Amino acid sequence: MLDALTYAGNLENIARLVEGGRVKFIKGSIAEAADVKTAMKGCEAVFNFAAETHVDRSIQEGGTFIKTDVLGTYTLLRVAHELGIERFVQISTDEVYGSSSGEYFTEASPLRPGNPYAASKCGGDLMGAAFFNTFEVPVVITRSSNNFGPYQHVEKFIPLFITNTIEGKDLPLYGDGKHERDWIYVEDNCAAIELVGTQGTAGEIYNIAVGSSHPNIEVAELILELLGAPKSRIKLIEDRKGHDRAYLMDSSKMGALGWQPRHQFRNALEKTVQWYKDNEDWWRRVKSGAFREYYDTYYKEKLKKGKRYGD
Ligand code: TYD
Repeated sequence: MLDALTYAGNLENIARLVEGGRVKFIKGSIAEAADVKTAMKGCEAVFNFAAETHVDRSIQEGGTFIKTDVLGTYTLLRVAHELGIERFVQISTDEVYGSSSGEYFTEASPLRPGNPYAASKCGGDLMGAAFFNTFEVPVVITRSSNNFGPYQHVEKFIPLFITNTIEGKDLPLYGDGKHERDWIYVEDNCAAIELVGTQGTAGEIYNIAVGSSHPNIEVAELILELLGAPKSRIKLIEDRKGHDRAYLMDSSKMGALGWQPRHQFRNALEKTVQWYKDNEDWWRRVKSGAFREYYDTYYKEKLKKGKRYGD
């Protein structure tokens, strides 16, 4: 596993796997060919989950998004071609289609990104398609709807609202709160990605969605209800610039591969709320930035650039 450990990277999340020898970890950037070569040597398949993903950050500053999501993907593809990688799974997002006003996007729908993050993901996807066409790199692209579940960074909507509720803070809801997202439980998304990795056809794109959207205000109210807090904690604030109303995708192609989501939204949200209640120490360290000490104390020596931890 190659990760740059930026502000969002947290080695604590995989420490058990690394220590148990199931994951080899390399600190490095997907935009640096030398790091990528070290990580990719001897691999059969590449799954590119690495990305700058937070829309609000991309509105503040889009440069890192272009570097990681476009140049990074290009660098991975180039090295994958050089090393003859047998499968390249590019993890993408429903945001590349832009906002839906009721229509369900298929894999053939046009790309209409509505913010710098979405545009940078389009760049990565198109580069993947180009490397398939030009060099026959066996690329498959997955486009997932909004994920939620354990270990999600607290900058994202659901963990932010759960942890703010527990901390007794207000919940900052953008605009009228009626923007909708089609939430997919992280385990359903991972099962779909694994299936595409093993059964997908090279050169194809696969939409991964549940097909049931929830307005943000409804999700906020449900979180408050699950934690026994009053609705008055919701604070409507100024809308996000260029805020996409909804993303809707047709995922019948995934259905044809044999995938369907196993988790129902309310149950999965209950499980997620419970996880954040049980792991307060984890998210408080993320919110305060203290999780970095873990890296400093235990891994600094072992994780010198390019070295595989566990070797
Ligand atoms: P987010 O988790 O940032 O995912 P994305 O923008 O990629 O879909 O946001 C999900 C929804 O929640 C989106 O409509 C924006 C909204 N939102 C808020 O209302 N307040 C917040 O503080 C955040 C982070 C998001």
